[in-house]
Parts: sequence; structure tokens; C-alpha cells
Amino acid sequence: MKILFIGSRLFDDVAWYTKQLGIETIITESNENAVNLDLADKHYIVPRGMEEPLNIAIKEDVDAVIPLIGIDPPLVDVGRMKDTLEEENGIPVIAAGYSTALLAANKYETKKELSKNNISTPYFNKLDEPYDFDNIQKQLPLVFKTPEGQGGSGVKIALSKEDIVEFTSGKDNIFTEEFVEGIEISVEVLRWKEQSVALAPIYKGDTTLEGTHPLAKIKQAPLNIRGIDNISHNNEIRQLAEKLADLVGVEGTMDIDILHDSNSNNDYVIELNTRPSGTRYMTASATNIYPLCQLVDMAMGNWSAKKVESDIKEYHACELPVGDFPEDKKIPEFKVFSGDNSYVVHGPQHYQRVTIRADSREKLNNITYDIVNDYATSNNINFN
Ligand SMILES: Nc1ncnc2c1ncn2[C@@H]1O[C@H](COP(=O)(O)OP(=O)(O)O)[C@@H](O)[C@H]1O
Ligand SMILES: [Mg+2]
Repeated sequence: MKILFIGSRLFDDVAWYTKQLGIETIITESNENAVNLDLADKHYIVPRGMEEPLNIAIKEDVDAVIPLIGIDPPLVDVGRMKDTLEEENGIPVIAAGYSTALLAANKYETKKELSKNNISTPYFNKLDEPYDFDNIQKQLPLVFKTPEGQGGSGVKIALSKEDIVEFTSGKDNIFTEEFVEGIEISVEVLRWKEQSVALAPIYKGDTTLEGTHPLAKIKQAPLNIRGIDNISHNNEIRQLAEKLADLVGVEGTMDIDILHDSNSNNDYVIELNTRPSGTRYMTASATNIYPLCQLVDMAMGNWSAKKVESDIKEYHACELPVGDFPEDKKIPEFKVFSGDNSYVVHGPQHYQRVTIRADSREKLNNITYDIVNDYATSNNINFN
């Protein structure tokens, strides 16, 4: 079995797994100084784009291709490559195809598609020039977005006329969205050969008027909202995720961003991301299902949604942005939880995050407390 991985940055998520399975691995990467290149049996430094990875997949006669791309811009190209390699060369590519990637790449088109299928999304409007600032001002706070963007780059929660003027200047493809006061949820869904399985809904913090991105917040699982039946709610979210995966026909992994309105208790879908999710360590911690290793199982041809469903565990999990993990505390070597009560450190220097798992809430609190305490000591912070 020989698999080509596109992009090396996330390869350490799966390297331990491919080794364990005895899979021959090749990486293509456009940055010669990138991390993890030495974890594969072979690597190629190639120009950006999907042309060379496609040629190498054919030349190396690989059994499957797994794109490990954590950013949005190349995804439509990846979809094009998938369609070609699968149709013309019979090489499976574990990712979203062209039309799915194209839809997910555009938040506005995604919302139109959601509305068409009676899936709730916050009320939205395309903004046409000339802008009617006085009318818009009556609706503040109002969320301004461009169809593309990631990590909050194309999003502004406008609180004043100045905010509107600043965001709109120089752009011509803006839409506005109702501000949802509540909490942010993400759920990952796996889909291959028309079978789908959703993993655990992850709590990503409250929405704020500053639009603080979940990257900077504490995450938790299981999702537990005060005053509602959480078992039914979590099941509803998982069903919604599977329905959405089937609707857009995604393959591989997709994450779905949801805003839960605290006043109405309704869930609103805001975007689909057809790539490895930023919450994948939380998912792995909470369920013991590692989304990127699942892609390897799909490539091997022995993936089944039923098997994943029956393998799902229920751990307590949280994730903290720590910047730099305390140096005197051991960093686990692999990106894999070593037991019922353990943690994984991930992310680049100065942007590290720690994801913790435990078999009870109390143990989760204890491990978290220890890590935060060590963090405070090594950074000279006094929490008292
Ligand atoms: N309608 C909304 N109401 C409240 N907060 C929002 C809304 N839309 C986006 N946000 C905030 O902005 C963040 C980024 O928005 P999102 O559309 O997911 O873009 P990105 O692709 O940058 O993640 C969200 O995670 C949330 O914190
Ligand atoms: Mg988002």
C-alpha cells in the first residue's frame, strides 16, 4: 500500500498510524523548509498548485492520495485534481470533489444552498452599492462578511458607522449577517462511498461583539448547554451534520460551524470547511476517533461509518491556547492520547495549544489545573 500525502504540515497527525500499518508514504510539499518532511519514506518539493502532485501520483503509481491541507485557498484545485485522478486514473483522492469544494469555498453560496434546503442559517443579505449607510446603521450590531476568508479574516462585527465604512472600502462582494448571541459549535463529519458519520459536537466559546475567533478561546466537549436536553441536542447536531455531508456530497472530512442562539435555542449553520478541522484534536480527545487517521482507513478501502459509530468513546475534553507549553512539563512525542487521562500538545511555536482528555469531569479539571499552574509559574503569572 502506497499513499501520497499533499502537504507536510499536518503529516505528524498520521505518521504514527501509517507506520503502524506498514504503509509506504510519499509527501509533496511546496516549502522546502517545512516540518515533518523526514517523517515520510520519500518527499518531493514541488511548485504550488495541484499539477505536480497529480503527476507524481501517476508516476509513483500510488494507491491513493490524501490531501492534508489546512488552509482554504487550494481546496477548489484539490477538488479538480480529485475529479481527474479518480475518473481518468482510478486513483482515489480522499477529499471533497470540485463542486463541493467550490460551494464550501463561498460562504454566501453555502448559505443560499442551506436556505434552499430548509437548514437554518443566520438571516443574510447581499450588500449592493451604493451602500445605504443610514439604513444599515439601524441594524447594528451586524456581521459583515466576504464570501471567502478563514480564521476571521473576512469577518467584521460592525458596531458603528466607522466599522462599516472601514470594512466596505475597497470590497465589492460583501454580505451582511444577523449577529447571533450565543455559543459557537463545531462538528466534524466523515464521509466516504456514500456513508456518513458525524463525530462529537465541540463547544468553542461564546460569540462576542469583538468577533473573537474560536482559535483564541477554550474549547470543551461534550457540548453541555444549560437548560436544555443535551443528549437530544447533541444527537440533533450529529444528524444535521450527516444530512449536510450527504447534501453536499463531501468525501473525506468536513467541519461545520454552527452558532447556537442562547435566546431561541436554535442552531444556525454559518459555514462548511472541506478540510482537516481546527477542532480535530478535540474530536480525537472526546471520541477517540482521529479524523485524519480515518482518511487513511478510507484510502485503505476498509472504512465503514458503522464501525466508526461503534468505536466512538465518550471522554471529557478541553483545549487551551497556551502560546508556549511549559518547558518543564513533558510534551508527548506523538499526536495521540496515551490513555484515559492524558494530553497532546500541538501547533507551531508561540501558538501552541494543549488538548486534554479525561474519563471524568473531575479528572479533567485536575489535569487542566496542573497544566495552567505550571504555565503560570513558567510565565511568572500570579493568578491570585
Ligand atoms: N452571525 C454571527 N454572529 C455572531 N458571531 C459571528 C457570526 N458570524 C461569524 N461570527 C464570528 O466570527 C467568526 C468567524 O466567522 P466564520 O464565518 O466562521 O469565518 P471563518 O471562515 O473566518 O472562520 C466566528 O467563529 C464567530 O466567532
Ligand atoms: Mg469559521
